[in-house]
Amino acid sequence: MNAAVTSTDITRAAALLKAGELVAFPTETVYGLGADASNTDAVRKVFAAKGRPADHPLIVHIADVAQLEGWAREVPVFAKRLAQNFWPGALTLVFKRNPQVPDAVTGGQDTVAIRVPAHPVAQQLLRSFGGGIAAPSANRFGRVSATTAAHVREEFGEALCCVIDGGAADVGIESTIVDCSRAAPVLLRPGSITPQQLENAMNMPLAAPDAHAPRVSGSLEKHYAPRTPVMLMEGDLIVELAHSLARQGKRVAVLARTALQPLVEGLVWQAAPQDAAAYAHELYASLRALDQAGCDAMLVEQPPDEPEWLAVRDRLMRAAAGAGGN
Ligand code: TXA
Ligand code: MG
Repeated sequence: MNAAVTSTDITRAAALLKAGELVAFPTETVYGLGADASNTDAVRKVFAAKGRPADHPLIVHIADVAQLEGWAREVPVFAKRLAQNFWPGALTLVFKRNPQVPDAVTGGQDTVAIRVPAHPVAQQLLRSFGGGIAAPSANRFGRVSATTAAHVREEFGEALCCVIDGGAADVGIESTIVDCSRAAPVLLRPGSITPQQLENAMNMPLAAPDAHAPRVSGSLEKHYAPRTPVMLMEGDLIVELAHSLARQGKRVAVLARTALQPLVEGLVWQAAPQDAAAYAHELYASLRALDQAGCDAMLVEQPPDEPEWLAVRDRLMRAAAGAGGN
């Protein structure tokens, strides 16, 4: 489903942003809940709508790398290489911020996160608006990110007047985040762009995270959580546990890559793709669908411990840790 977005939709959305209102828009990772990044009152509305604590900073989206100097104070060589290779795309870079960046955006930190998204609708909106758009994922705090316009409406209902429907997000999980605010690059959040790809582009290794690395609220243990309790486990255990829970009269939802669907009454079964990129693309929609079944437990088959599964494993681990992230 790829909805047609007209230039009138874009012009209207840009006008709303200029007026200090919120606009939900598609990016290739997940949908964003956008506000004019230079308008403190507008940015505060994002936090209010999401129910997100004010000290969790937002990503500023810009149309292209030429706008970076308006936001970042220092851009090291390794960051330039990352920008050249992956912008526009599913990569967010954290820089020392320019003094004029509102504290509301950065949570009062000395750094600012910047992304140039590739989605054509996000690009059109950014160009029509002209400035930076501060946007977290368009979900309520601690909930699963939205990968379709319908998900965004599920999250915010009528309270949000403008949701641009650009169809299902391609990547399906949030951008890779790299800290570029210090001497060495640090991976703050895994995403579809892998550590190996980052290192190849920079021609240098990522540094290990240390106590001084900037805070990433998404790396709270508890995050991206459905309401149904999620348990991550190996495939054969799922079959055993599904039988045992059913015997106790419990209803069970399962997300699994293997075709081992057991004959258990009332079982809600969602088959997940074999391939990591396809899995990521469907992940949040699957979690939402399984959550809506209102089961007592959600059993998720642990994907392989291989590099291309890093970001998916990260999101599943947080979903299993329970509610309460960003
Ligand atoms: O794919 C994405 O990144 C989506 C789309 C809409 O661009 N956005 C997104 O935003 O996932 P959000 O707010 O849900 O997650 C952004 C993460 C948060 O964990 C936040 O703490 C971190 O980025 N972040 C933002 N500014 C930061 C900064 N200055 N230093 C360190 N982390 C920062
Ligand atoms: Mg988020």
